[in-house]
Amino acid sequence: MNLYTLSWPLLLMGASVPTFAQEPQPLMGKPIHGLTLMQQQLYEEGLVKFSTPLAEAEGLGPIFNEVSCISCHNQPAVGGSSTRRVTRFGIAAASGSPFNPLAGLGGTLLQDQSLDVACREFVPSVADHVILRATPAVFGAGLIEAIPDVDILAAQAAQPIALQGTPRYVQPIENPAGPMLLGRFGWKGGVSTVESFSIDASLNEMGLTSPFAQTENAPNGNMVLLASCDTVADPEDHADPSGFTLTQRFTHFQRYLAAPPQTPRSGMAGEALFDQVGCADCHMGSFTTGTVSEAALSGVQIHPYSDFLLHDMGALGDGVVDGIATESIMMTRPLWGLAHRTALLHDGRTTGAAFDGLIDMAVAEHGGQGDASRVAYQALGVADRALVADFLASLGRAEFDWDTDNDLTEFDWFFLEPLMTGPLPAVPLTADDPGALCDVDQDGDFDLVEFGKLQRVWTAQ
Ligand code: HEC
Ligand code: HEC
Repeated sequence: MNLYTLSWPLLLMGASVPTFAQEPQPLMGKPIHGLTLMQQQLYEEGLVKFSTPLAEAEGLGPIFNEVSCISCHNQPAVGGSSTRRVTRFGIAAASGSPFNPLAGLGGTLLQDQSLDVACREFVPSVADHVILRATPAVFGAGLIEAIPDVDILAAQAAQPIALQGTPRYVQPIENPAGPMLLGRFGWKGGVSTVESFSIDASLNEMGLTSPFAQTENAPNGNMVLLASCDTVADPEDHADPSGFTLTQRFTHFQRYLAAPPQTPRSGMAGEALFDQVGCADCHMGSFTTGTVSEAALSGVQIHPYSDFLLHDMGALGDGVVDGIATESIMMTRPLWGLAHRTALLHDGRTTGAAFDGLIDMAVAEHGGQGDASRVAYQALGVADRALVADFLASLGRAEFDWDTDNDLTEFDWFFLEPLMTGPLPAVPLTADDPGALCDVDQDGDFDLVEFGKLQRVWTAQ
């Protein structure tokens, strides 16, 4: 799509920020609409870094989980999720003693690979609590970051008392003297900014030390082993000729990654049921980003389906204590992009079924503050549960993507062509009609204007 021919007339008309409500949403892995040329370039350059294996001389290891961000974040496109899971260990709380993260023995995160096999980390035998953590997608991370803390607090204040969440304040790693900010990333909400996550993941998943995280992880806490295996001086991440470190490059890419599309954008019958059984009390449908340094990320209405708050989920908790996120406490996960996930929940336990089956299974695991909603969902009839699943399958689907594979091809067109209604259909399309996939401007038809938009996104792919 040509952003510039679109936005200039709007600017001339006096509109300050062009809106893209009438345009097809970006596929996953693509940049946000409306970035400046400079920001698009930072996105492209960041994409390359996010996708390139880190070399040993650049700072990989000595212990690590994978060699690049994309090794884990790749489904259905760069920046996505994957079935790669990482391991966390500790000693569970027992009478009198709290959860022990075994920090001195390399806990809680295991690095399961190493440059030198002599330095390989392992789960120590004293650890009696070992769990897996699944990889979430980072689509729309810059938009999530741009939600003002006060709006999350307002969302909390509006929640029914029984399932009210708890905000988690955390210190951004890159701004150690600055204010604490509301955590909104990670399964336990332990990270508040994209740059903090980039610094954290660079160190803990890849072994890259950087100006704000200068200390290498020692294999099972063994400093002698570390000294024998660590060949690159810390910090390993240096500014490149343009003045950006790798962790900043990773940050650019993720901040400019578009949010997962949702098609149709509103009005499906299943969403009303999702609200009715209380899912939306935690998986909140709508936030508006605040004002940040990029116009394209500012004042944007987004639909993450999360409250970014901590909840007591009962037995669904992962048993790990991480700050105020104790054993049974997890952060509500955004549901945008759900259509592409094949393993749900923090450990990816919900897997091996068709999409509607995955939803039934994921809801069945909701305990604690999620219990009432689980019961209400399970009391729905089969047909109503199918409507909820239809709605959830729209989270992660772009316009015209008939088979929801994040790619527009002749195969999609084969099914879409018969759905063209022309401008005045006898019965207007509803959000639950298959043709609504093509109704970009949501005016109840699939006409030549939309066909033109399809051609443009198709050729721009
Ligand atoms: C070995 C697999 C792996 C690698 C490599 C990896 N990640 Fe992740 N990523 C994960 C897992 C697992 C989580 C969930 C973390 C948690 O909460 O325990 C995650 C979470 C994230 C999140 C939070 C997303 C959200 O919405 O909560 C961001 C951002 C992120 N990773 C960025 C990166 C970046 C940047 C890199 C490269 C420097 C990277 N990751 C490398 C596995 C990986
Ligand atoms: C009390 C708040 C709350 C309510 C109500 C709630 N959820 Fe959740 N939901 C969560 C939390 C917290 C998680 C993360 C669980 C974990 O850590 O595995 C989650 C995870 C999920 C996931 C998996 C997401 C992923 O990325 O793997 C799905 C799907 C989901 N919820 C659907 C629903 C549906 C459908 C309903 C209504 C029947 C619902 N939830 C009600 C809090 C809630």
